[in-house]
Amino acid sequence: AMEAGLLSPSSSQPSLILTQDDLKKIAAYKAVEYVESGMVLGLGTGSTAKHAVARIGELIQQGKLKNIIGIPTSKMTHEQALSVGIPLSDLDSYPVVDLAIDGADEVDPYLNLVKGRGGSLLREKMVEGACKKFVVIVDESKLVNHIGGSGLAVPVEVIQFCWKFTASKLQNLFEESGCEAKLRTFGEKKEPFVTDNKNYIIDLYFKKSIGDLKVASDAILNLAGVVEHGMFLDMATTVIIAGELGLTVKNK
Ligand code: 5RP
Repeated sequence: AMEAGLLSPSSSQPSLILTQDDLKKIAAYKAVEYVESGMVLGLGTGSTAKHAVARIGELIQQGKLKNIIGIPTSKMTHEQALSVGIPLSDLDSYPVVDLAIDGADEVDPYLNLVKGRGGSLLREKMVEGACKKFVVIVDESKLVNHIGGSGLAVPVEVIQFCWKFTASKLQNLFEESGCEAKLRTFGEKKEPFVTDNKNYIIDLYFKKSIGDLKVASDAILNLAGVVEHGMFLDMATTVIIAGELGLTVKNK
């Protein structure tokens, strides 16, 4: 349901132009309204989730949230959460997480997601898979009709050992979808991007539909050498979308 007026702390300024980062922040702040004292919280990763982490830290400092335990989904979020004063733990100590808040790269009409452009998909999937409630925060640019259909990659985390072999196996799986499997690199020297878990990422680009997502997911996970992939199927319980015209909250 559209919630009118949520973007207007300054509705007297009709010319207010919101940047994409403003939209991310608006979605993040809305999600933090779901947080209650005493919760074990999954803390997401990325430029949207970082606004939520900052806000949670602020509310703790103000004494408005008490007894929060944060479970970070990356080393980067671990650092940020510590810097804003969120007490941290892990899934070994807290195997049930009350609520996770995280961004996404793509959201389809059924609330299936692609995640992992930031490279944190494995820890995200572990933490968010352990959550009672998983609130996804995005600006409207992340909405797609079909996962992997927007020309953006579906990331797959693979072990470093013989990654080329695994990449060609992945590409062959989706030959009919016109799949191209590329090792993720960074910097001018094009060094392989290494995840928090010391693995590589193979980005899958599709020219045609992936087909049935569950079938695709099972096929990818069935390959030795694959650790996890970035399709988060049937995991999100709520998606908060911030757009120029306001906030939309979609529930599963
Ligand atoms: C990291 C992720 C991020 O949540 C996703 O990439 C969205 O990032 P951003 O909020 O910066 O657009 O899955 O692994």
